[in-house]
Amino acid sequence: MMSNIRNVEPKAINLTIDGKACSGVFGQTILEIARENNIYIPTMCYLTKTLPIASCRMCVVDVEGVDGMILSCQEKATDGAVIKTNSDELYKERQNIMKLYNVNHPLECGVCDKSGECDLQNKTMEFGVSGQNFTTKEPYRPVQNWGVISYDPALCIMCEKCVRVSTEITGDEALKVKFGGYSSTIINVKEDANYKTLGEAAAVCPVGALVDTSFKYTANAWELNKIPSACPHCGAGHDVNYEVRHGKVYRVTNQAEFSTMCSASRYGFDFDNKNVKKDVSSFNSAIEAFKNAGTILFSNETSNEEALIFQKLKVEKGYKLISSEARAYQKFMNAYGSVTGKLLADGTLDKLTKSRAVIVMGTRINDDAPIVKYHLNMASKWQRARVVYMHPIVDDEISNIVTQFIKYEAGSEEGVVALLADTLLKDVELPDSVRAVLNDLDIGNLSAESNVGEEELEALRKSLIKKVGYSLVVGSDLYAHPRAENIAKLLALFEKYAGFNVICVPPAGNAMGISLICELDDEVEGSTIGYNVKGDFTLSALGDGDLDMPALNQQEGTLTALTKRVVPMNVVLEYGGYVLNDIANALGLSAEYTIEYTKELPSEKGFEAVEFDALPDHFDAVGTEHRGYLLNEVEVAVDETLEEPAEIDGCDGTVVYNCNPQEHFSAFTAKSKNLEQNAYLRGSQQFATAAKLADGDKISYTIDGVKFERVFKIDTSLKGTIALNPTFDMGLSSALISSYRFNQVEIEKVGS
Ligand code: SF4
Ligand code: SF4
Ligand code: FES
Repeated sequence: MMSNIRNVEPKAINLTIDGKACSGVFGQTILEIARENNIYIPTMCYLTKTLPIASCRMCVVDVEGVDGMILSCQEKATDGAVIKTNSDELYKERQNIMKLYNVNHPLECGVCDKSGECDLQNKTMEFGVSGQNFTTKEPYRPVQNWGVISYDPALCIMCEKCVRVSTEITGDEALKVKFGGYSSTIINVKEDANYKTLGEAAAVCPVGALVDTSFKYTANAWELNKIPSACPHCGAGHDVNYEVRHGKVYRVTNQAEFSTMCSASRYGFDFDNKNVKKDVSSFNSAIEAFKNAGTILFSNETSNEEALIFQKLKVEKGYKLISSEARAYQKFMNAYGSVTGKLLADGTLDKLTKSRAVIVMGTRINDDAPIVKYHLNMASKWQRARVVYMHPIVDDEISNIVTQFIKYEAGSEEGVVALLADTLLKDVELPDSVRAVLNDLDIGNLSAESNVGEEELEALRKSLIKKVGYSLVVGSDLYAHPRAENIAKLLALFEKYAGFNVICVPPAGNAMGISLICELDDEVEGSTIGYNVKGDFTLSALGDGDLDMPALNQQEGTLTALTKRVVPMNVVLEYGGYVLNDIANALGLSAEYTIEYTKELPSEKGFEAVEFDALPDHFDAVGTEHRGYLLNEVEVAVDETLEEPAEIDGCDGTVVYNCNPQEHFSAFTAKSKNLEQNAYLRGSQQFATAAKLADGDKISYTIDGVKFERVFKIDTSLKGTIALNPTFDMGLSSALISSYRFNQVEIEKVGS
């Protein structure tokens, strides 16, 4: 039944474009091959990362032997074709298109936010359109405010890029075309939701029709200095450009033609540690504290280089290193690798988009990893992929792409994975010892304890038959599970023996980098230094510790992205205080700058000995990413010993699920004024009844020794008896909350 994502060698084709011999592969469009061969064809509606929209006709070309002009953005190239991209007729055609675009377009570039980076402005000049030759009566169409973006229909050229990203990429499906000849407009059918993902629509709008409300009328594009970097929040390390003037970030953009940002990076850029000066006495106290400490606690908001400094200090001074989420992920991946024989899981986002069937389990993916969710959405939209979402809590935000929801009991993840293995690996050749464990499973008992019916699994199995290209996406619910290591081994069977594209989504921030670079510990010893975590002595970029540190947008360094890419970050905003490297130097290490450690990142974990300044940081003309480098594959010892699933210790009583909303990942996104959001405990009416709570009650409860004081809110979009508990707003305690994500808690009412 199972078959891998096809890896067929593409068939090469040769063609001639403007007299130049070009090569490509079967299935590529004329435009794609032209761009690969540095041949310019003008476009207005083309967006590399979506399917061709084919609404503008600017990309027309002549193909020898074919009547009429051909749309190069959607026409597949054929072997031996002879193509002309330029002629008097083609120029005239394009000029006429530009004239049409300019009918009634106000051309008030002087006051338009897009001026200086507007496709219409640029191509109007390119095609010598110097005036508006004809006009029609312009209907009254006021500017609309849609929360994070605003829409001016008068400037809209109806290219549909915004609709396509909203549908094909982010999947919020908020924007639609309202057809009506010259009165056609874009409408927002989900205005109430105020999706921050709509920032993506503004990012791809070629004109000034859609703009970010927060940026509107604040600066001209050409006045801003673009500083390339990587997203420090979501774990995907995707490209960002901080656009800065006079020490202030005005907006965050990216290579929107090819890549997509999470909303946390687009709006959560104001998390720098401001107005810090060198405080010698606090610095001396820090050195003293380090000399007396036994343990360093640190959060995921730690660069690769800082993680290496901690590791070196551990080797030199014997500190215990505690970074709980990264440690859980490290143990999980070690167990996973012990089956596959490789340090990292094989899965990639690219293969995810090509999948025809995807199973997601152990993560509330839309909130945990928006970039992964976007790729899931692409698989759904482009491959019509079946998406099976397995989780204790239904998520309405992805119901538009989920074809089967399988609810399981919190705590039963090991049993669920065993049931999946039993169902989907039936016809797969497995080593005898592994097969013996699967044969011994007590299916009836696992099914009863997890509450996953055998008929649901059978429906899942049947729906996957004959599909080509499977992905399995798993996440943070599994890493801190008491049976995480056996779960990891069971999941690794899918990659190794059934060719699944398995993505183990790391926790947000730089958990993946930390897990590769540091030998992490489980137990605290002696007094503690906290780095963006509350310790006996606290170094903090949040501005409330014993010694200030720079935030990740105030330092150079690298992050390890979930794409297995090591990506550079640059200094965006000024910082005048001490950095971790100063402390390391005072303790006996020696490096003038933190980035001297970039080339020392451990090669035995796949890192390369490359100087920070030599790391590339761009996309080429066809969208291939040249940012940093991909981790090398590393082989590890194989030990496929599996255990029987343990008896399930279910979560009874009042259960909350630690999960941040989509734009929030840490105390740093919480610091962002642009992302200000109340952190309520949100539960269904059913939860409220079971927990004897009313909407608006003030409550308190404790998880991992951290006391939460919150307001309870009934959320009618939720079902079931588990409430969502955000952790991003807990400041220096945020990183301490890292146990299994479902927690049975005692809720105390402290007011209403
Ligand atoms: S959308 Fe472009 S062409 Fe139109 S007014 Fe703005 S800058 Fe000028
Ligand atoms: S709002 Fe912008 S992106 Fe959307 S159709 Fe109009 S011009 Fe194109
Ligand atoms: S780019 Fe081909 S039709 Fe617009």
